[in-house]
Amino acid sequence: TGPLKVALLGCGTVGSAVLRVLQGQADELGARIGRPVEVAGVAVRRPAHHPDVPAHLLTTDAHALVTRDDVDLVVEVIGGIEPARSLMLAAFEAGKSVVSANKALLADDGVALHAAAAKAGVDLHYEAAVAGAIPILRPLRESLVGDQLSRIVGIVNGTTNYILSRMAETGAGFGEALAEATELGYAEADPTADVDGFDAAAKAAILASLAFHTPVSAADVHREGISTVTATDVARAAEIGCTVKLLAICERVPGEDGDSVAVRVHPAMIPTSHPLASVGGAFNAVFVEAEAAGQLMFYGQGAGGEPTASAVLGDLVAVARNRMTGAPGPGVTGYANLAVRPMAETPTRY
Ligand code: HSE
Repeated sequence: TGPLKVALLGCGTVGSAVLRVLQGQADELGARIGRPVEVAGVAVRRPAHHPDVPAHLLTTDAHALVTRDDVDLVVEVIGGIEPARSLMLAAFEAGKSVVSANKALLADDGVALHAAAAKAGVDLHYEAAVAGAIPILRPLRESLVGDQLSRIVGIVNGTTNYILSRMAETGAGFGEALAEATELGYAEADPTADVDGFDAAAKAAILASLAFHTPVSAADVHREGISTVTATDVARAAEIGCTVKLLAICERVPGEDGDSVAVRVHPAMIPTSHPLASVGGAFNAVFVEAEAAGQLMFYGQGAGGEPTASAVLGDLVAVARNRMTGAPGPGVTGYANLAVRPMAETPTRY
């Protein structure tokens, strides 16, 4: 077989890291896949902004790149809903598998996208969409799929965790800590996605969908951000042995009419003895409670180009191996379709 040809859509922080690592480790990745890996092209809006990318790879016509006959696999790291959604659907229709880091899109339209991939007989993987480098979606989908999950509590936004950690360490106010997070490149281009909890809500929806085999979209997630958390709140929490974290909480709620799912993102005080309390800086962690497995915690870098590229490339190798063996990709069969409960109020303590 010839080389596996990869189309890269987007070349921002994550895309450029994917390209760098992919090209730097092409031989090793090729050996793991069983065929050489090559970048077929890189779709960007403004080629002049990417002097480090070989000019012959750059194109502004993402649709043409995605549907090119020689492209085997598409890596979508543009982010946002459009044009990412249309390009992903075009890729499926053209018989290409997709690896994506797009939490907003998967949280918005995951069921339809999985259905389109399944119809086309191709794969859709998005480990990088939740908690950057941390392997959490594949463990939920594969390692823990035989268990009954009761709850996931995650710190899934690096920017807000950095802000809250700095406020606790230095007594800084929210604005000062946000400016630092932006400077370090953790915050999204529009920091309201981080600060107001939209980013965490999208990730929570994806986690809940996989954990409870039930479609949950970002709109189902009760959401409060951290912009109203003050230096005084953080100091008072410390006085009573707690730390303030922006938590994404996905719960299976037992009920007389059957179980339901409740998903919420809000700042909460957690006791400093809880493993999540020691997750500082821009780190992420996902704490999982399962009936048979008990408690597990997944910890690592949740933002940044190279950590996120690690998850993208892991998916790339997984998809390439599946394609070679004819194994089916991760589908959406077997949904439990539990009811998704709206939240009436938010507890301030975890
Ligand atoms: N802005 C996000 C964060 C990046 O701070 O976690 C990763 O999704």
